[in-house]
Amino acid sequence: MENVREELQNQSTPLYYYDLPLLRETVNVAKNAADRYGYKIHYAIKANNNSRILEEISQLGVGADCVSGAEIALAIEKGFQPAEVVFAGVGKTDKEIQLALENDILAFNVESVQEIGVISEIASSLGKVANIALRINPNVDAKTHHYITTGLDENKFGIMMHELDTCLEIIENHASLSLVGLHFHVGSQITDLNVYKRLCVKVNEWNAYFYDRGYTVPILNLGGGLGINYMEPDEESIVNFSNFFYLFHQFLELKPGQEVHFELGRSIVANCGSLISRVLYIKNGLKKNFAILDAGMTELLRPALYQAYHKVELLQEDKQIEEEEISKVRYDIVGPICESSDCFGKDVLLPELIRGDLIAIRSAGAYGEVMSSRYNLRQPLNYFYKE
Ligand code: LLP
Repeated sequence: MENVREELQNQSTPLYYYDLPLLRETVNVAKNAADRYGYKIHYAIKANNNSRILEEISQLGVGADCVSGAEIALAIEKGFQPAEVVFAGVGKTDKEIQLALENDILAFNVESVQEIGVISEIASSLGKVANIALRINPNVDAKTHHYITTGLDENKFGIMMHELDTCLEIIENHASLSLVGLHFHVGSQITDLNVYKRLCVKVNEWNAYFYDRGYTVPILNLGGGLGINYMEPDEESIVNFSNFFYLFHQFLELKPGQEVHFELGRSIVANCGSLISRVLYIKNGLKKNFAILDAGMTELLRPALYQAYHKVELLQEDKQIEEEEISKVRYDIVGPICESSDCFGKDVLLPELIRGDLIAIRSAGAYGEVMSSRYNLRQPLNYFYKE
């Protein structure tokens, strides 16, 4: 976030700042790392569906992972190829299924026996064949926040093991269904690569299970979840794209002709976005100093919802000033919303703040703008795109 203060000085806040060159660089690094092993990336649109972001990503040779009919329509409108769109989610409506079929998407990641029946019915009424990837719940602990752990038996996601045979029976008996893949996703913001190692063990078991029963499943979709370095957004994460894909290369046991797909959201878009806000007031309490911002949980919900850490920085006038020379103060960085959880960070050490200072809340490109709300009748967001 260097040298942006001047550019942002006259902008209305709160605003989402997107660094498009950084986005392009991130996608290219990810894609090159995946290409090394012939792996395919689908960008998980749920992380950020901003039109400019989608227009950029769709031009860089990745597909789209969508979780609603509206995401499918937007992805296609913004340049993703329908044949590179997958449709996931536990609650697909009939209308959404129809839209996906009409657009001839690559595959439905299906999550229940009943859903397979519904997709089959709609496909046959349209005279189409639906490509199905079975989402299997591998019971692997993602070791992340419990709200974003998805691959355990107690989670609502995926087909339960005892129902697999029924699924296969339905698929075999319906010409409108074609089994094209197995799908796994265990959680998000995963920073321990051992989680993926354990996932590979389970995937290999399931892959062998299907193979031994005579099913050649062309696609293994390993989902997403690669975590980022929220603490130091300008430093490279320990779990970078290269060692992420290399791990799968080492531990996945593929059957002949199998493709490997991923659905990455956060690791693609988190770093390129920051929420920029102005200090409205400084309040020196008896125990705490509060910096009250013009952005709150309505613009970035993650800290309030998951107690997530986002680095808070002052956009300084003079970058030359040595850090040590500035006297620092601890602030609780809070928003204007009428909730005590409306807090971006407690006891954050920053140079002394004054009314009007510009603050950057970093790593907000993923699950930031998309989870914003109009609570307190907040006004629409402002944007600044670094071209
Ligand atoms: N595939 C599936 C099936 C998913 O459920 C998700 C995310 C992804 C891929 C993409 O995961 P990523 O690479 O972005 O970790 N709102 C939460 C995150 C929820 C993630 C939901 N699923 C947050 O702000 O941390």
